[in-house]
Amino acid sequence: MKDTLTDLRNRFLHFFYVHFYKRIFFCFDPENVHAACSRFGMLLGTNKLTRRISSFLFNYSNPALEQKIHGILFKNPIGLSAGFDKDGYLTKILPSVGFGFEEIGSITAEPCSGNPGIRMWRHPEKKSIRVYIGLKSEGAKKVAQRLQKTAFQFPIGISIAKTNSPKTCETKAGIADYAETFKSFLKIGDYFTINISCPNAFGGEPFTDPKKLESLLTELDKIPTQKPILLKLPPDLSEKQIDEILAVTKRHRVHGFVASNLTKQHSHGKGGMSGKFLEKKANALIAMLYKKTQGEMLIIGSGGVFSAEDAYEKIRLGASLLELITGMIYEGPQVISEINRGLVQLLKKDGYKNIGEAVGKN
Ligand SMILES: Cc1cc2nc3c(=O)[nH]c(=O)nc-3n(C[C@H](O)[C@H](O)[C@H](O)COP(=O)(O)O)c2cc1C
Repeated sequence: MKDTLTDLRNRFLHFFYVHFYKRIFFCFDPENVHAACSRFGMLLGTNKLTRRISSFLFNYSNPALEQKIHGILFKNPIGLSAGFDKDGYLTKILPSVGFGFEEIGSITAEPCSGNPGIRMWRHPEKKSIRVYIGLKSEGAKKVAQRLQKTAFQFPIGISIAKTNSPKTCETKAGIADYAETFKSFLKIGDYFTINISCPNAFGGEPFTDPKKLESLLTELDKIPTQKPILLKLPPDLSEKQIDEILAVTKRHRVHGFVASNLTKQHSHGKGGMSGKFLEKKANALIAMLYKKTQGEMLIIGSGGVFSAEDAYEKIRLGASLLELITGMIYEGPQVISEINRGLVQLLKKDGYKNIGEAVGKN
């Protein structure tokens, strides 16, 4: 009975979002809509009553979705991907929207307004967003100061990138930039993601080069922390390049990967593409990483998760957790509950009692 009501609720919200809100949102600049939605989310998060109402509208829980990974309890596997809540203003409302965790950031050491001009475009025919924001961040110090006393209601990942500036192009300066942010967040959040794959920043993606990555990870190894450390990879590397990166990570304190960031391989203009346009590439990378690491590293799958079936495919390819942004923009915030509820049904159908049993079963 409860499940049928949740299904009805989700269908109603989906209809309302797709036929009403989305039509209005899609008339305006995506970055302005994002900013307005974030302000609204922040407001909802400040008050107990509005958090409760949001929970009533969006939440879904089931023990089959719970996992303890590296000692961190994830109540469900669906997280908000880095880039939506860059400065960590939505941590209070997102658990009520049904997310199992979120990745704040990417945060950079220095404040940065990102690239100039229009920098976000929708591609509805591809169910994708093209992004050329270029690591907009309030800067590590300001974000850390604001978040240091927050009691988070779900696991928080801190995504760290190199400040988008000519000053950090030189390898030593770039490494120092990553290290500064890393140190600022030692007491905040549950895991780190080192983003070496922003497609839109000054100087490209230098730390996908094995020698530079070696230097970066050597420096980060010196900073004491018990938290798991993940690397966020681009989807556009060759198998040989992935092999080289894996060889480096084996020598360092790396516990897993986020696969993947936006793809640069497209003909639509500047920026990286997300969503369905990215999905196949992200899935191929997840499968490759899982196979090459024999399931021993944590994989967070990201790219084109719009439904429970999409999420389940990534899980069966080797992802233990998933992150999304674009699916929520195209389908509405109830999509988190839809995915989680659908996952429980898919697990049951295949005879699994818990999501962890399905990881890598493809
Ligand atoms: C507007 C936007 C901003 C993003 N900014 C970041 C970022 O700062 N750091 C990062 O690691 N990934 C960033 N990404 C990539 C996402 O985290 C995610 O990996 C990618 O969008 C694929 O997931 P999706 O298809 O569900 O959107 C951004 C994506 C979008 C759409």
